[in-house]
Amino acid sequence: MAFTVEPLNKGHDRKPFQCGQPDLDDWFQHRASQDDKRNVARVFVASNDEHGVIGFYCLSSFTLTIGDLPDEIGRKLPHYEAIPAALIGRLARDIRVHGKGIGELLLADAVRRIISASRTLAVFAIVVEAKDAAASAFYEGFGFRPFPQHPHRLFLLTSTASTAFERL
Ligand SMILES: CC(C)(COP(=O)(O)OP(=O)(O)OC[C@H]1O[C@@H](n2cnc3c(N)ncnc32)[C@H](O)[C@@H]1OP(=O)(O)O)[C@@H](O)C(=O)NCCC(=O)NCCS
Repeated sequence: MAFTVEPLNKGHDRKPFQCGQPDLDDWFQHRASQDDKRNVARVFVASNDEHGVIGFYCLSSFTLTIGDLPDEIGRKLPHYEAIPAALIGRLARDIRVHGKGIGELLLADAVRRIISASRTLAVFAIVVEAKDAAASAFYEGFGFRPFPQHPHRLFLLTSTASTAFERL
């Protein structure tokens, strides 16, 4: 299914959007543009002529501490107070396009955008917030690993993501 992904704008009709998680729908419909305006989240929207808005994700900068990471990764890092990361805070597709690969394409678009930004602003890891066990399983299918102390927060090293995209 063809669609475009672009920054949230006034032309996007968000009212009919439903992903199956009411709190995500509510955030997208009522709070996404405020978060974007206030520079706390950058919101990207997928749409096409047939369905209108079919998905979204949002990106923010984020920091980790070495203690957040598994030992085998943390011990190779310099002992800085903050390790730079990028957060995919929310990501969802409309239930009308369930199981058609839109979630995967949205995730790929978000990761590609982060890799591109990381050439200007260092990003050690890409972090995702999963709403529940099903969302964690979705992300784990793409190589994300849960943080030892936050099972529903997962990460992928930017270096791993870049290598994966180079192969495509
Ligand atoms: C999670 C979500 C984005 C997946 O989107 P989707 O378009 O239905 O999934 P896709 O069709 O792209 O599936 C891609 C792959 O992930 C797998 N997958 C999808 N949902 C999954 C789940 N709940 N558990 C495990 N694997 C899942 C698919 O089987 C597929 O793998 P395959 O290619 O090996 O068959 C979607 O279910 C959603 O929007 N859920 C509500 C919001 C949400 O929970 N967002 C995530 C946290 S903010």
